[in-house]
Amino acid sequence: MSDRKRVLSCIQPTGEMHLGNYFGAVANWVRLQEEYDCVYGVVDYHAMTAPYNAQKLRANTWDIIFTLLATGVKADNLFIQSMIPEHTELCWILNCMTSYGMLTRMTQFKDKSANQSSSADGFISAGLFDYPVLQAADILIYHADFVPVGKDQEQHLELSRNIASRFNQSFKKEYFVHPEPLFTEIPKVQSTADPTRKMSKSAGAKHYIALLDDPAAITKKIKSAVTDTGEVTRDETGKRIMSPGVANLISMMRASGAQDRADEMVAAFEAESLRYGDLKVATAEAIVELVTPIQERRKELLADKKAVKSQIKASSAQIRKRAIQTLKEVRDLAGLMPYSPTV
Ligand code: TRP
Repeated sequence: MSDRKRVLSCIQPTGEMHLGNYFGAVANWVRLQEEYDCVYGVVDYHAMTAPYNAQKLRANTWDIIFTLLATGVKADNLFIQSMIPEHTELCWILNCMTSYGMLTRMTQFKDKSANQSSSADGFISAGLFDYPVLQAADILIYHADFVPVGKDQEQHLELSRNIASRFNQSFKKEYFVHPEPLFTEIPKVQSTADPTRKMSKSAGAKHYIALLDDPAAITKKIKSAVTDTGEVTRDETGKRIMSPGVANLISMMRASGAQDRADEMVAAFEAESLRYGDLKVATAEAIVELVTPIQERRKELLADKKAVKSQIKASSAQIRKRAIQTLKEVRDLAGLMPYSPTV
């Protein structure tokens, strides 16, 4: 196809996207499209690993598609995981190449299963345990060279390499590429209500700003964002230390593209003349300026839902062709029967 290196990444359709998701992943996806052959998935099979509602899952899957397109992800690069059932088939084959012991050491499984065990019925699915193998299938099925990852996904990527090695050794062929992490400069966005922790939805509405929040909601949330307790702390040279809350507002300004304004704020902070009210107004403005065109674009796309949906069905079918090719080769290597699906 092209000699550009291939990048693969996926996102779960878990409802409202927040600024942490946007700056941490999606904005980066958009940039990577210029340099790499990118394949991006909305992974609805993964979203089944915790108790969920079927109607909501389908609605959320389409919803995030519209948001991703509005941010600038190209339709041709985008697929919906359950439109490519080969992901689950490869997952099964890879299950048999995965060390049970390694899976038990996945920290995300330990965290999520601990959370879910304290939920109403304490149900933990085998799917949650197997989640990283399905992720390995997502990556290996397209022979991805790079996966842009945050720290929390490094262990899963290492598992993917391990599974690839086991497969290659088992069938005496250097078949699967070893996917490498792609570390890029990613702004850290913390919770607006508790800036010592990552922005996330699970902590509640005060903790995050949604990409689709309207200007009034954004302004309100930024106004009530935690700055500091008023207590001045200084380093050994007497310079004032920035609190996590103030640093977070400045970091959101920068991430939103208001570099110059952010520099001014930092200079004022250092001169000890920064008023937090001004900082908040400037931060809210920067975020509103960033999200407004995305929201407008999304509205345009929603005006012709049908066209967008058929575009994504077509791109998924196109991308599926590569997945089918992989499965044909994998079935052959693994001693399974050949198949020829019609797409
Ligand atoms: N586990 C990832 C997350 O929660 C989502 C994911 C699924 C993924 N498959 C992937 C990420 C393949 C990168 C590559 O963020």
